Order: sequence, then structure tokens, then C-alpha cells
Amino acid sequence: MSYHKMKDVVLKDGQSAELGVVIAPGADWQKRLCAYLNATPEPEGSHFHRFLLTQDVPGLEARYFVMLRGGEITGCIFTTDGASVGYINSTFVPRTFRQLGIAGNLMEALEADFSGRGGKVRFFTTRTGSPAEKLFEKVGYQAVWERSGRTGMEKHYNQSTWEDVFSGEAEDAQVEEMTWAHWNPHRALMWTREGDAYHPLVGNFLTRIQECAAQDQMRWKALTLLDGRLVGTAVLRPHDRWGKEDLVSYVLDLYVHPRFRGGTERLFEATMPDAGHVQIFLDRSSKETVAFFLERGFRLETSLRDDFNHHDPTTPDIGVYGQTL
Ligand SMILES: CC(C)(COP(=O)(O)OP(=O)(O)OC[C@H]1O[C@@H](n2cnc3c(N)ncnc32)[C@H](O)[C@@H]1OP(=O)(O)O)[C@@H](O)C(=O)NCCC(=O)NCCS
Repeated sequence: MSYHKMKDVVLKDGQSAELGVVIAPGADWQKRLCAYLNATPEPEGSHFHRFLLTQDVPGLEARYFVMLRGGEITGCIFTTDGASVGYINSTFVPRTFRQLGIAGNLMEALEADFSGRGGKVRFFTTRTGSPAEKLFEKVGYQAVWERSGRTGMEKHYNQSTWEDVFSGEAEDAQVEEMTWAHWNPHRALMWTREGDAYHPLVGNFLTRIQECAAQDQMRWKALTLLDGRLVGTAVLRPHDRWGKEDLVSYVLDLYVHPRFRGGTERLFEATMPDAGHVQIFLDRSSKETVAFFLERGFRLETSLRDDFNHHDPTTPDIGVYGQTL
């Protein structure tokens, strides 16, 4: 299936339009959506849309809600979801069609769709102070954080909380390769990640997963529950900081949700290389985490405090811990 009509709509200028959703777009819809999302100056990360629309990304539940007028796309909201966790990737209505109720109608339709499919929580970021904040507040989203000009917003459905998303037993968690299917669950884990360490490697999923495909020395593992919820992640990336020809050097980043700490060992074992030098950056005040790595042979090699700002007492005391295997 590519395009599915949902309903007819009368917009604020009295003209009628058609609202529908595109799932797994075929060649014709790939072309139309790429043209729409790339031609306009404002949509975020146009290369990202092109990538997602034209590559096979198994396991990713991507939906493009569109408003059509005379066959032309006049608005599009792109969402992805997985394991009952949803994300709004982009919302865009061209200038000439704004304030006609297009985005509002699209939002209502996609809210009903997600909730009807058992969605638990959906979140995204938007530019702080953008008109989009009002749009999302109207359909029940709340701003939960604000930093560097971005606002994080979320909405909980069917009385779910983050506690429900991260409920379960550590013994049930298993290690698997990170795949596209983990995109949204990974975003949820990062969204709720509690700071007990310094994380140099958390970043763009798209970049990470492409790096993984390109470099055979890189590992990216997921600690998951049977229904696809992600409760831990570990990335091992080669880097040249150590600089010895015969010794491959890596940086490790490992995070497990506090409820599932019992699965940390499994994730660690599956991610560590057989040989090489491995470094991890840890907040030295996180005693439990530091102890975990010391017990497994890591030693403090240097502290980054002076590299950041030793005059600022709020700067975390980051230690670089390493071991040679
Ligand atoms: C934000 C955007 C999607 C709104 O699209 P739209 O089709 O014009 O929105 P609607 O006409 O459906 O308006 C729905 C609600 O959004 C809010 N809204 C829309 N435009 C607004 C504006 N310029 N100022 C303040 N609120 C605004 C209002 O609450 C409005 O409800 P109301 O008309 O009952 O007051 C559109 O302006 C846009 O594409 N902007 C650039 C891209 C962007 O900022 N995307 C969001 C990034 S996540």
C-alpha cells in the first residue's frame, strides 16, 4: 500500500481538500514526497527525507500524512513509530497555504491513528517559540524541556507514562544488533536517559547506523525486551587517539536504563572486542558505573576536567578509563 485516503476536509478558505496517509511509498509517491520535502526552503534535513524515502529500511514504521488540494501536496507531517513509541520527524506547510487549518487537520488525523494503534507516548523537538508549539499544544503536547533554542515536547496516550514504556524484568532483556527497527525505541531511551555518565557518542541515529554498515570494526548493540522496547545501548567505535599501528583503539559508550541494570553485563560482554585498547568516558561521581568498569579491568587514564572548564564547579569531573585487551 502506498496512499490511503482518510477523509475529505473543508479548509478555512472554504475550499475542499483530501487528507490521506502514505505508508511504504512506491516509486510515484517517493518522487512526489521527495520533491515536496526537498523543494521548499524550510523542512529540516531534506537529505534525511530523501534517504528514508528511497532506501529500504526494514522494521521502520514510517507514515507521511498529507493534505492534497487539486492533487497537489499542500502539507505533510512525517512520523515514525516502533514499540508503541512515536516521533514526529517533520511538520511542514508551504507559506502560501498556511493558517488554513492544514496542519491542525493533519495533526488530528495522526493523533487518532497513533492512539488507535495502541500508541503509548510520542515526542519530538521544535524550535523554541515557533508557531508549531501552539499547534502541538492544541492537540495535547506539553513542553518538557528547553535548551539551545529547541523545545522538547511529549504527549502520553491511553494513560501511559514513561514508567510503562520502561517496565519489565532485566532477566528478560536480550542483546541484539541495532537495526532501523530500533530507531524510535532508541530515541525514547535517549530522551529519558538519566545522567550518570558523560556520553561522547550519543548522536544522530542515521549517522551511527551508516557508520556501522561501513566499518566492520564498529559495534552497536541493543538491549531489548521481547516486544521490541529498547532498554540499553552500547556503541564501540574505532578511533585513532591511541595511535599505535599494531593496536586498534576504540571508544565505548554504554547506557542501560536504571530499571534494567541487571542486563548491563550481557550488553558489555557482547560489545567488547577480543583485542585492542578500549576507552570509556565516565562521570567520576557516578560511583556505581565507575565501579562496574574498574571491576572489569578498566583503569583511570586521564581526567577531562581541565580540558572543559576547571573554573566552573558545575563542570562534571569526567574520567577517561581504559584497558588494553
Ligand atoms: C507550523 C505550521 C506547520 C503550521 O501550519 P498551518 O497549516 O498554517 O497551521 P493551521 O492553520 O492548521 O493552524 C493550527 C494551529 O497552529 C497554530 N498556529 C499556526 N500558525 C500560527 C502562527 N503563525 N502563529 C501562532 N500560532 C499559529 C494555531 O494555534 C492554530 O490554531 P488556530 O488557527 O485555531 O489558532 C507552518 O507554519 C509551518 O510549516 N511552519 C514552518 C515549519 C515549522 O515550523 N515546522 C514545525 C517544526 S516541528
